Amino acid sequence: MSAPPVTVLDVPPEEAAAIRAAVLSADLSTLGMGRALAGPADAADLAAFLADPPVSDAIYDLPRPFTEANMARWIAESESLRQEGRRLLILTRDELGMIAGYSCVSIWPDRSAAELAGALRADRQNGGQGAAGALHTFGWIFDALGVRMMGLTAATDNVRSAKLIDAAGFVRMGTRDAIRPDGTIRVSLYWEVTRDQWRERWG
Ligand SMILES: CC(C)(COP(=O)(O)OP(=O)(O)OC[C@H]1O[C@@H](n2cnc3c(N)ncnc32)[C@H](O)[C@@H]1OP(=O)(O)O)[C@@H](O)C(=O)NCCC(=O)NCCS
Repeated sequence: MSAPPVTVLDVPPEEAAAIRAAVLSADLSTLGMGRALAGPADAADLAAFLADPPVSDAIYDLPRPFTEANMARWIAESESLRQEGRRLLILTRDELGMIAGYSCVSIWPDRSAAELAGALRADRQNGGQGAAGALHTFGWIFDALGVRMMGLTAATDNVRSAKLIDAAGFVRMGTRDAIRPDGTIRVSLYWEVTRDQWRERWG
């Protein structure tokens, strides 16, 4: 399961409260076209989207197998975590209404920290959309949610993710053990970036 960044910030309660409020009131239209919170009606489409191995194979913390029932549970869990300011499960639909990507933002308000996981539909991969979208989303997480730190993990063989995370200015911090929902461990590359570092690079 996703874990908060290794680096621990000192976070006053009012900062944590402001982050919770920002998560609850987040305006997804500022994140990009076609974005919406996942809702109960999305379960079947989400199961079909994630069933494609090029989409989901690299992501360790998805609820498997990709059945409609598991997706419905994940969507409901994400909504209750959103109410606590701790998660945003976001779908992007294309002009035909098909799911073209998903993002799952995990937030730890009392750590002023967030993590992002996500994937694009296979036909949208390898065209630069991932790097551009991730860059925009990282900035959005800092600006719209108000956290001061992000941590990211990627499988050690996920060259595309590593390239885009390095290019975004995240700092490599070795590896960390990521725990899958079934309790097994995946050794992952690990990065962090602070909001100050981010703004110094991207403004
Ligand atoms: C990871 C993902 C979001 C990246 O998006 P994308 O649009 O496919 O990637 P991009 O086209 O932006 O490429 C990212 C970088 O990898 C490079 N790249 C792509 N394929 C590569 C390969 N086989 N070998 C080396 N570099 C490669 C690109 O050139 C680019 O680097 P550059 O900006 O320096 O040119 C997308 O591939 C995806 O959804 N993958 C499946 C799920 C996943 O892995 N999620 C992330 C989990 S951490």
